[in-house]
Amino acid sequence: MKAFLATAKERTQRYLDCFLAEKQQELSLLGISYVDTITEIGLFCSRGKMIRAAMNLLGWQAGNGGDDEALLPVAGAMELLHAGLLIHDDVMDHDDFRRGQPSFHRRYADRLAEEGSANPRHTGEALALCAGDVAFFLAGEALSRATLPESRHAEVRRTFFRECLLVGIGQMSDVYLGARRSPASLAEILHVYRYKTARYTFSMPFILGARAAGADETVVRGLDTVGEQIGTLFQIKDDELGLFGEAAEIGKPTGSDIREGKKTILFSFMVEQVTGPDHDRLLATLGNPAITDDDIAFVRDLARRSGALDAVRARAAAVEAAARTAIAELPVTPEVRHLLNALVDYNRDRGF
Ligand code: IPE
Ligand code: MG
Ligand code: MG
Repeated sequence: MKAFLATAKERTQRYLDCFLAEKQQELSLLGISYVDTITEIGLFCSRGKMIRAAMNLLGWQAGNGGDDEALLPVAGAMELLHAGLLIHDDVMDHDDFRRGQPSFHRRYADRLAEEGSANPRHTGEALALCAGDVAFFLAGEALSRATLPESRHAEVRRTFFRECLLVGIGQMSDVYLGARRSPASLAEILHVYRYKTARYTFSMPFILGARAAGADETVVRGLDTVGEQIGTLFQIKDDELGLFGEAAEIGKPTGSDIREGKKTILFSFMVEQVTGPDHDRLLATLGNPAITDDDIAFVRDLARRSGALDAVRARAAAVEAAARTAIAELPVTPEVRHLLNALVDYNRDRGF
């Protein structure tokens, strides 16, 4: 799977470099400022793993699309969409680091502060929202450039925008659930995972690739389901890495889920299972923006000794088993089936 991801990344990167250089050049001629945002977005994309682009190429392969050169603009669009979502997400979540570097709003704010701007924090966030929009619009243009038969292309565009809408609403549900005082049920959390992560990370690129290749509806529907299962596994793992990883390893700040009071499956299992003074301290820690390293260590330790981490892992194992069954039922070549199973392994075992 690592080799598959690396090749997909290299090819998508090449497409994006070309496309973004062309856009930068085109806009430079208009003589407006901030055109270098386009280059910054390209660099930001290059620091990610480009999983979504790879999933798009895998969906194409599942649909027996043959030579996939024509799909690269769609694969590029997946990464530009993801870049826009992350730029906005870091404003929403007040996360100052992403992919090992200061996030967009942080960089703008620092630059503005150096220039003596009156309200660098607010203006930095405003500029980052604009940069995220720029990434979305670039994604739309890249998508429109794919040289596919028109009926398939129309289907790809329709599906892309429908999925964009779902992730937009999914992000809103995540924000609301985090802010709501009452605890979230497991069903509510899984619902958010499906829309804020699973669909746009796996189902969307899979089905766009398959539809672009002209795959049967049974393949498209099967990939859609498998995508949700693998995506749920991915998010559960992300929660665990987010709690136990160090900032240098995960490229984001340690303990940010705790600080934000994010209602992850892990934290809700903990809130349910822990009693007494540990429970009080846990509730005082989750959602507290001023947590210390000691608080993070407490939550980590509690996750282990309360049995909540084991319970989450058991849940992940059940999702994994469902994904394996769905993969076995897909009408795809043995090679694609092997890649999908390797993808499940990758998500289950991925470290920092
Ligand atoms: C980000 O979700 C989801 C999208 C960008 C759509 P999170 O807020 O949970 O992810 P991280 O922890 O910032 O990467
Ligand atoms: Mg976030
Ligand atoms: Mg978020």
